[in-house]
Amino acid sequence: MTMAPAQAVKVFEVGPRDGLQNERQPLSVAARVGLISELAATGLRHIEAGAFVSPRWVPQMAGSEEVLRLLPNDDGVHYAALVPNLQGLQAAQRAGCREVAVFAAASEAFSRNNINCSIDESFERFAPVLQAARQASIRVRGYVSCVLGCPFSGAVAPETVAKVARRLHEMGCYEISLGDTIGAGRPDATAQLFEHCAQHVPVAALAGHFHDTWGMAIANVHAALGQGVRTFDSSVAGLGGCPYSPGASGNVATEDLLYLLHGLGYSTGVDLQAVARVGVHISAQLGTANRSRAGLALAARSACQH
Ligand code: HMG
Ligand code: MG
Repeated sequence: MTMAPAQAVKVFEVGPRDGLQNERQPLSVAARVGLISELAATGLRHIEAGAFVSPRWVPQMAGSEEVLRLLPNDDGVHYAALVPNLQGLQAAQRAGCREVAVFAAASEAFSRNNINCSIDESFERFAPVLQAARQASIRVRGYVSCVLGCPFSGAVAPETVAKVARRLHEMGCYEISLGDTIGAGRPDATAQLFEHCAQHVPVAALAGHFHDTWGMAIANVHAALGQGVRTFDSSVAGLGGCPYSPGASGNVATEDLLYLLHGLGYSTGVDLQAVARVGVHISAQLGTANRSRAGLALAARSACQH
């Protein structure tokens, strides 16, 4: 009997951006390049490495130009960075970025707090970014924040999320990552959200981006898998949060995501043990607790074996 080949899931590592942007201790450019290189060595092929945003708004991401410039451009890894406007894209181009991400929200209040403009105004800013990126053959990903609730205005309807996601897709974003910014969503709502959005954007172009504030992130990944989603964003050691979302905690930990996916028979091309070692290292470097349950379990097991 021949075994069916494992289905592939794409793991999009966002720790060096979404994680570090909200850690109290800013890391130097050299330390960030070190972390990203360690992550690339684990088999991760999609790594968000920085953000070309105002250093007044997010000081932790200052120096992203040097970070991106120092990364190799021929190692088969897609290194990406956030850009909120044309100024950000121009900085990304100077750094040699081949992939950027624009970030919108499904809530007006969050849009104002995060990027100081309305949702419509954000699309006016994105249009020239998409146009210039297309001319320069730079891939553009799109984010939608607050897909399962807003820290300022509460409930968000799936129809509102789908509208923003579809606008980003029609504008030319190759993939739309749906962000549960405040980590408040539960699996039933997650399944409904992706089912609805898949009627507007092909499910192959949707990604799940779950923060773990209420401990639901891994359950939400499972629910989205059930809707056919095959791309997930995650942070090594569960680093981070969002500076404009009070109380939000980090993304689902990459180690926990890999433990789930590999256990379910999906292939990722990523070495879980190697990511867990990076998680131990970065947590020690930042002086923070390792927030990956699988990472802690692996560390405890290897301590017992020695
Ligand atoms: P603004 O103050 O409205 O911008 O900020 P402005 O156009 O009026 O310019 C004001 C100053 O900012 C000027 O400098 C510009 O040069 C500068 P000054 O003349 O005063 O010295 N500026 C920039 N500097 C660097 N890079 C740029 C840039 N643009 C203008 N690209 C802006 C608007 C968007 C810049 C600001 O609000 C900002 O930087 N926001 C960043 C917010 C952010 O990074 N949030 C976290 C990432 S999103 C997230 O985490 C959610 C996600 O993970 C998904 C999820 O979980 O939901 C993606
Ligand atoms: Mg996020």
